[in-house]
Amino acid sequence: MATATQIINYTSTSHGGELINRQLEGAEREALIKEAEAFPKLTLNAWSLSDLELIAIGGFSPLTGFMGEADYTNVVENLHLADGTLWSIPITLPVTEEQADAYELGSKIALYGEDDKLYGILDLQEKFTYDKEKEAENVYGTTEEAHPGVKKVYEKGNVYLAGPIQLVNRPDHSKFEEFELDPIEVRQMFHDLGWKTVVGFQTRNPVHRAHEYIQKSALETVDGLLLNPLVGETKADDIPADVRMESYQVILKNYFPENRARLAIYPAAMRYAGPREAILHAIVRLNYGCTHFIVGRDHAGVGDYYGTYEAQELISQYEDELGINIMKFEHAFYCTKCENMATAKTCPHDKKYHVHLSGTKVREKLRNGEPLPKEFSRPEVAEVLIRGLRRHREQNGEG
Ligand code: ADX
Repeated sequence: MATATQIINYTSTSHGGELINRQLEGAEREALIKEAEAFPKLTLNAWSLSDLELIAIGGFSPLTGFMGEADYTNVVENLHLADGTLWSIPITLPVTEEQADAYELGSKIALYGEDDKLYGILDLQEKFTYDKEKEAENVYGTTEEAHPGVKKVYEKGNVYLAGPIQLVNRPDHSKFEEFELDPIEVRQMFHDLGWKTVVGFQTRNPVHRAHEYIQKSALETVDGLLLNPLVGETKADDIPADVRMESYQVILKNYFPENRARLAIYPAAMRYAGPREAILHAIVRLNYGCTHFIVGRDHAGVGDYYGTYEAQELISQYEDELGINIMKFEHAFYCTKCENMATAKTCPHDKKYHVHLSGTKVREKLRNGEPLPKEFSRPEVAEVLIRGLRRHREQNGEG
């Protein structure tokens, strides 16, 4: 694991100033693990565990723990932490009322995963109840339970526990070991590559032709691309992370110059909070050392909950407070007349010549066993996806 002293040069500052590191190592870690045997236990679900990890590795800098009430309320109502720092999504630790009663303020709680492994420690400073409908409405823009992020809100316990955390063990990303890089390590990598300007790309889908087009359009003006796919919890019909990771390697190998793009995992859970999540995604990529971040059509959207450019509109309002340049791209499509990828900004032809691409369409075609046309996907990527999904179906006994 890299430490702060190994870093020679940052390509950008982190959000709110300091890049946070709440990972314990060596004797300090050993001692806390021993001490934790006497602490009351709490088992985190996959979502909370990924939040714990992101806080600890500095992806969520300047957060040092799960949010207390003042930060939470301000984030939900005003998109800022209590100290005025821009922040768009609550990062909280929900428990049931019965669970909350069992923990005393000022005590330390041992945070376990569902695998019964100790991951971290919470220094409990606050417990508070919250208004779920208000959180849903303000953060997700809807109170409908059909929205996967809102559904999670309604399923959560009624009390949030808050306080600083420490991480003593990392969640297992061994499947993606080569691409498991902390923000500080990614910054070091950019430095070693000599990249001064780097565009970060968030995705929860395989890279289709529209993604590639906007990535390469951005790459025309910056030194490098960080393909930073989210590999934490996603909704069941999204393509599994292991299949996507294989597809990312294939596209980078075959369609990007070797020294211009790198792949690293973003081990977070997907909230599907559209505009507000676009801001979080930009903040995180700043923390990973990117100088630029792409926001395209319906960023982090789901269904019809958000307008095509709502994420761009919201992030535009806060650009002055973000230490990262936002590169906004219009809806990209393949034009059969241009014989190329394009947007309304660059293509004069009638809509009937346009092939529209989205992660949803790619997933639909794959699910129906239809081939992915070359306008949708590079053949090497299509092959990996078809093979990977077949493997998953077999593993799940779906024939
Ligand atoms: S998500 O994390 O934002 O949900 P997704 O894979 O759908 O992931 O999109 C990744 C990025 O590409 C987002 O910035 C999104 O706005 C952008 N994007 C996806 N499809 C298109 C498209 N056809 N045209 C322009 N931008 C797109």
